[in-house]
This record gives sequence, C-alpha cells and structure tokens, in this order.
Amino acid sequence: MENFIVHNPTSLHFGKGATDTLGEHASRFGRRILLVYGKGSVRKNGTYDVVMKQLKKSGCDVVEYAGIQPNPILDDVDAAATLGRRHGVSAIVALGGGSVIDSAKFISIAIPVKRSAWDFIEKKAEVKTSIPVLSVLTLAATGTEMNAFAVIQNEKTKQKPGFYCPHFFPRHSFLDPEFTYSVPRDQTAYGIVDLMAHCLEGFYGKGESMLADRFAIAIMREAIEIAPKLLADPKNYELRARMMLAATYALNGTAMVGKAGGDWAVHGFGHSLSVLYGVPHGASLSIAYPAWMKHFIDVTYRKTACLGKELFDAGNAAETVVAFEKFFKKTGCPVRLSEIKIGRGKKPEILQNLKTNSVNGNRFKLEERDINAILDLML
Ligand code: NZQ
Ligand code: ZN
Repeated sequence: MENFIVHNPTSLHFGKGATDTLGEHASRFGRRILLVYGKGSVRKNGTYDVVMKQLKKSGCDVVEYAGIQPNPILDDVDAAATLGRRHGVSAIVALGGGSVIDSAKFISIAIPVKRSAWDFIEKKAEVKTSIPVLSVLTLAATGTEMNAFAVIQNEKTKQKPGFYCPHFFPRHSFLDPEFTYSVPRDQTAYGIVDLMAHCLEGFYGKGESMLADRFAIAIMREAIEIAPKLLADPKNYELRARMMLAATYALNGTAMVGKAGGDWAVHGFGHSLSVLYGVPHGASLSIAYPAWMKHFIDVTYRKTACLGKELFDAGNAAETVVAFEKFFKKTGCPVRLSEIKIGRGKKPEILQNLKTNSVNGNRFKLEERDINAILDLML
C-alpha cells in the first residue's frame, strides 16, 4: 500500500431533478455564465432548455459557446476562452459528455491568462488560478465530472495529452440519469467500455492495494451486469442511474486508492487512434485492451486469471482475455482495427503517432518491440 491523501472537492448532485439547484449554485460565483456544449444533442433532448431556465431564474446572463466536438480540440478551447474573457464570465457551466466538460476545464484555466491552454501543457505557463466549472453530465463514461483530469487534441501536432490539474475538479456536478436517456446505443456501449477500462488501468497500475482492486472489480461487475439490460432498455431509470454512478466512481480516485496510479498505456494507444482517425474513445479501448492483455499475459498471469475468475468465472488468464473480447463484442464495440476499417497499411503512421505522444505504461514499460506487438494484435 502506498501513502496517500484523499481530497475530492467536487459536490456531486445525483438523481432526478438534480439540476433544480444549478442556478442557485452557479450564481453564487457571479451572474455572468459561459455555457459550453457540443454539437446539438442538448438542444434535441431538452437538457439545454432545463439548464437555461435554471440559469435565467437565478438572474444569470448567459454567453454560449456551442460546437465542442467529440475528442475535443484545442482551437475550440482557445476560442471559448477568448469569448469568456471578453465577457468577463464568473463561472462556466459545461453541459454534455466528457468532451464538453474536459474543454470547460481547459477554458477555466485559460480565461484568467491571455494565452493558449496549450501553454500549460507545454509548461510555458503555470496554473495559478481558474474560473469555477459546474458540470451537467449527459453521458456516463469518462468520470471527468468528479476528477481533476482533462484530455485535449492538438490538431496541428497530432497530440492528445491528458493533463492533471487540481483546479480541474468541477465545483459542482449535476448528474440526472434521465439526461442520459437519449444517449445512442453505440455511445452507451463506449461508455461502458470506458468505465471498465478505467478500472483496468487502476487494477494493472503501480503499487498494490487489495481494496482498490476489489473496488475496481465491484465496479466492473456492476457494468457487466447492467450492460445487456441497459442496451435493451435505454430509458430505464434504475439502469441509467447505476451506470452513471459506476462511471463516476471508476475514475474519481476510489478504484485506485492506495496505489501509486494507473498504468495508462492502453489509454495512450486509444488517444493516438482518436487523434489520427477520430475513433470514439470507448471504441479505441475495446480494441486496445484485449491486445495489451494478450501481450502481457505471462507477466500478469496470476492477476489476470484472478480478475477473470471474479468477473466471468474464467478458468485462467487466456480465458479471461477471451471473455473480455466476447463481452465487448456483445455490446457492439469493435475489438480489431480491421472492424473500423483501419488496415495494416496504417501501422507506420500509428507507430509514429505513439512515438509523438510518448505512449508508455507507468507500470508495464513498453519497448519499441512491445508497441509493435500490441499493435499487431490490435489489427
Ligand atoms: O456533441 P453532442 O451533440 O453533445 O453529442 C455527443 C457526442 O456526439 C453525444 N452525446 C452526449 N450526451 C448525449 C449525446 N447524444 C445524445 N444524448 C445525450 N444525452 O455523444 C457523443 C460523444 O460525446 P463525448 O463527450 O465525446 O463522449 P465521452 O463522454 O465519452 O467523452 C470522450 C472524451 O473524454 C476523454 C476522451 O479522451 C474523449 O476526448 N476522457 C476524459 C477523461 C477524464 N477527463 O477523466 C478520462 C477518459 O479516459 C477519457 O480520456
Ligand atoms: Zn477513458
């Protein structure tokens, strides 16, 4: 067990009508709000109207930045920060999934300084202050609503780094499972894979903590049980609520408590696929995780076998990997690059991008031959 400090300042408001107090909480920071959202799902499913009503009721002036794309990009972050700075906003309300909330986190540190958010990543600037972020989650997947991470794509350099910053904890996150009723089948499945991948990154992470591993297993069990029922019944409140809670707890620190951190190599592979080909985050992970597990099966044999026994009643490590693949396939997620029309011809480009992004594991270190072998298994 490693030494650790637990500090998670996000107030989580969970359940039906969770956003009823959004206006009250947002206006405590001031009355000029930057509302950030994506490509339009929030307009169609009515959550935009609910949020606007709340903010107006509390006397807030709202400036909007719409159009954040899945696998969000730096250009939007910088443009939204310029807008927020110009209007002197006092808080940011992020309405959407991980892409919108991660963008809002970067916007929140870029507004107080007249610089690109990329300067923080490149360590040309230090984060000293931020604008408060309140998140209204519409897609259960990333856990960003209760953690201090954010991920952004730089289209020019083809990088997709993750960034940790204590200022990134949303002050308040509002999780109404009904807001996720409209999430399409594929995105629901990607969310399930993503939350499981977060548990796996912790499970295979640095340091030993039995309780963290047991938390991770419990969350994955929950996901495995929910998945088929939820995919068949997407407007079931209880199932949406269970998935939302599982996704938040998969990456709010609970499933890594007492560890030195996750491994994160598989996420690195996933981010390269997203920045190069726009692969949805969860789909990149359902392809990369089984390949990584196969490659490291000898060194992780006992751990992988134990995991498979707990989750799928698998008899050994090899059966565990097969069971994961089978589960991902059943949710409709791809498990090979060929299924998403990325052929062997792309291998040099992917290898180059993995290098550009310095992809490696924190615990299971990758030499060039490991990266090559994992990529071959992904094809
Ligand atoms: O753009 P809109 O119209 O909003 O549509 C989105 C988008 O097309 C749609 N959607 C969201 N809520 C919906 C909905 N459609 C219908 N009804 C709803 N209620 O779903 C699509 C995907 O949204 P996105 O936000 O991109 O998905 P997700 O939440 O999976 O976020 C993925 C991003 O988060 C990063 C990923 O790398 C990726 O960039 N991650 C962030 C992490 C963190 N901050 O802790 C950790 C993760 O490992 C991950 O890396
Ligand atoms: Zn993830």
